Amino acid sequence: MKVIFPGSFDPVTKGHLNLIYRAAKLFDEVIVAVLINQEKPPLFTPEERIEMIRELMYDYDNVSVKLFSGLLVDFVREEKADAVIRGLRTSQDFLYERQLSLLNHSLYSDMEEIFLFTDGKYSYVSSSFAREVASYGGDVSGMVTENVAERLRKKFE
Ligand code: PNS
Repeated sequence: MKVIFPGSFDPVTKGHLNLIYRAAKLFDEVIVAVLINQEKPPLFTPEERIEMIRELMYDYDNVSVKLFSGLLVDFVREEKADAVIRGLRTSQDFLYERQLSLLNHSLYSDMEEIFLFTDGKYSYVSSSFAREVASYGGDVSGMVTENVAERLRKKFE
């Protein structure tokens, strides 16, 4: 089964990584799909976001990292993927993901999603919290890996 794990990954967090590693065990092929954001300007360029993920994925043969822009449903069709993976941390995530799913289904009725609960120890972790804490010089080691923490430090130097 070929699945897509989409997101902004600005930057990739330990919560994302936990989901990617678990998806890599469950499915034959995992594509981590990094969104080229059109609305809000990201902190990291698409290339930086891809690099940070690839640095952590070198020993996972069945995981690839790709950029995508436009609608997720179009990327899913293009890749002939079987399903999209999304993580759930909280009940707010559930409500948001339900809306996203309904929207995606209205655009592409064959779209399938598989939801994985994020490991409890990462349930407070988000890219935006990591960016905010790093912007004040705080410790982000609970939220991101060392390569990402280093890049965050450089951004806010
Ligand atoms: O980083 P996130 O918020 O977890 O990822 C959200 C993402 C990338 C899955 C969502 O914004 C998305 O699919 N964007 C692509 C554009 C699109 O398809 N929009 C319609 C659904 S919001």
